[in-house]
Amino acid sequence: MEALKDKIERLKRERNAVILAHYYTEGEVQDVADFVGDSLALSQRAATTDAEVILFAGVHFMGETAKILSPQKTVLMPDMAAGCSLADSCRAEDFAAFIAAHPGHTVISYVNTTAEVKALTDIVCTSSNAVQIVESLPKDEPVIFGPDRNLGNYIRNITGRENMLIWDGACHVHEEFSLEKILELKKEYPQAKVLTHPECKRPIVLVSDYVGSTAGLLKFAVQDTSTDTYIVVTEPGVLHQMRKAAPEKTFIPAPPMDSTCGCNNCSFMKLVTLRKMADALERMAPEIVVPEQTRVRAERSIRRMLEISQKLGLV
Ligand code: 13P
Ligand code: SF4
Repeated sequence: MEALKDKIERLKRERNAVILAHYYTEGEVQDVADFVGDSLALSQRAATTDAEVILFAGVHFMGETAKILSPQKTVLMPDMAAGCSLADSCRAEDFAAFIAAHPGHTVISYVNTTAEVKALTDIVCTSSNAVQIVESLPKDEPVIFGPDRNLGNYIRNITGRENMLIWDGACHVHEEFSLEKILELKKEYPQAKVLTHPECKRPIVLVSDYVGSTAGLLKFAVQDTSTDTYIVVTEPGVLHQMRKAAPEKTFIPAPPMDSTCGCNNCSFMKLVTLRKMADALERMAPEIVVPEQTRVRAERSIRRMLEISQKLGLV
């Protein structure tokens, strides 16, 4: 393990590389990264880094977003098979047909989408800024929101927008959490606060004390002084930073419906290992490639998100 870490450090310097990692990766992966963040902060970093190489310890759409924003840089993935069930639930050709069937709508897509879907989109959003992005549009502007139905419903309930068409996609990890199990945990730990990612289903959102992106959950968990126990309803990788930042507090990962399946873990994020990271830096492969025509259109929708977020002081 130490030898692998040294190798990554050395190759990083030789390649002038930066390592960006998402909160859902393994703790040891997060610990060798230069920056760990949620999707919004990671795309911001990818847009501004002056390193020549980005090694993206995350899933494919995140590496793609980095490449779209920094086309002159080499973006490496530790494992190209690290996909995303939510991005997979929205194929570009199906989404294009949906948009064509509903003309006159502004298309807002969650960052968990392929470059091709982003290229069909007017404004990208992440779970950090989705509500504010939607609210930045006039109240009567019709919106298509994709691909996450749970995040879409969450936004619709908060903003009270009726004219919002929502794509019927979901994340297999966040769909697995069980309300019943969370209520049982609440009985066991009555003082605990429930912190939930908005990709979870509405009944779980309704019993939560705080709903937000991974970065939002982390910030809340660290800053909150009302209790010292938290039930965390998202992929448990984020507990690594929570425990580091607030070792005196207790963080309980919410279990999935079937407690034996381990399916509250994102199997895609867990494909990222130190060995694969070292190999990618050594071989300078596998590398993300986005066709230029798609990239240019996708960049427009991501830049709109970054501009709105900057204007609102969210990044
Ligand atoms: P965040 O944008 O909150 O980091 O979430 C990304 C993700 O994949 C959630 O499943
Ligand atoms: Fe995709 Fe779900 Fe994994 Fe997030 S947790 S990367 S939405 S499959």
